[in-house]
Amino acid sequence: MTLPPDVRISVADRVTAASRVSIRELELAALALDGTAPLDDQVRLDLDFGAPPSRRHLLARGGEPRHVVGYAHLDLASADATAHVVVHPDHRRGGIGSELFSTLAAESAPTRLRIWAHGDPSVGRAFADRLGLTRLRELWQMRRTAKMPLDAPTYPSDITVRAFEPDRDDKAWVELNAAAFADHPEQGRMSLEDLRRRMQQEWFDPAGFFVAERSGELVGFHWTKVHKATATEPALGEVHAIGVHPAAQGLGLGKALTSTGLSHLSGLGVGEVMLYVEADNHLAVALYQRLGFVRHTVDVMYGRPWENLGHEE
Ligand SMILES: CC(C)(COP(=O)(O)OP(=O)(O)OC[C@H]1O[C@@H](n2cnc3c(N)ncnc32)[C@H](O)[C@@H]1OP(=O)(O)O)[C@@H](O)C(=O)NCCC(=O)NCCS
Repeated sequence: MTLPPDVRISVADRVTAASRVSIRELELAALALDGTAPLDDQVRLDLDFGAPPSRRHLLARGGEPRHVVGYAHLDLASADATAHVVVHPDHRRGGIGSELFSTLAAESAPTRLRIWAHGDPSVGRAFADRLGLTRLRELWQMRRTAKMPLDAPTYPSDITVRAFEPDRDDKAWVELNAAAFADHPEQGRMSLEDLRRRMQQEWFDPAGFFVAERSGELVGFHWTKVHKATATEPALGEVHAIGVHPAAQGLGLGKALTSTGLSHLSGLGVGEVMLYVEADNHLAVALYQRLGFVRHTVDVMYGRPWENLGHEE
């Protein structure tokens, strides 16, 4: 497939303020048409703050005046390269998506390439079919009504639960998170810098970031988040991340920390609480279902079938 004659693709680790605005417009136009946001928080942070060399932006520019008509984000920091790709609704079916994919493949070679399709839109399925990609992972968004009754959390007697303290807990939390998510391709590799960037976000509130401590060591956490109400959506709570150190698993900390965070969110008056979980993490899915969560949306990770040998998820 060839690109429309006026469209050019460039690769950069930073984008200009004007391109950021253009990408945001593209994202909103795609959301309006597909019913699902094509990019995620990490991509938006890389757009706003600039990405390290291992994360790149691919911009397809065209039109008059020239603006961003297609965008892809490539993350080369882990064993598999992961990408997002989106084309402006006014410029689809012209080969831009395919060309962005070829550029992603060239930029990521020889690493295996994975593509996220948030919300599993039908256009993403048609595109993946055409490129011969297969579904590798499903990430569920689950939701629960905040005012559903909850059992009070019960903790072992040697565990204390308190709010996260910025600076004091940063390093210990990064280590705990890496241990708790050792098998998780994205969450497990959050660095101190990634944590500090999130702490600069306006939604960050240490009062909703609970840590469980045993003998002065962090052994578990539940980091909640509140998405502010918009003109069309009421405020939404989120189980942003929840983790327990392998040495403290099996004590009921996961369930207790989940309840602590849910009570906190309910006290803030959010109507619903959402979370993301791997569809094949059956234990976690069962825990959340017991707490009243139901599946709301599905994100799909696609890959090239000939690269899937040795895939561990
Ligand atoms: C998926 C997406 C990036 C495709 O961008 P695009 O520029 O339209 O892609 P292309 O023009 O290169 O399309 C390549 C082929 O994919 C298939 N395809 C793409 N969109 C399709 C649609 N709406 N219906 C049916 N087939 C479609 C077609 O076979 C097409 O070839 P054709 O036009 O010659 O028939 C774009 O629809 C988009 O931004 N979707 C929202 C984000 C998303 O789903 N990302 C995840 C992708 S896995």
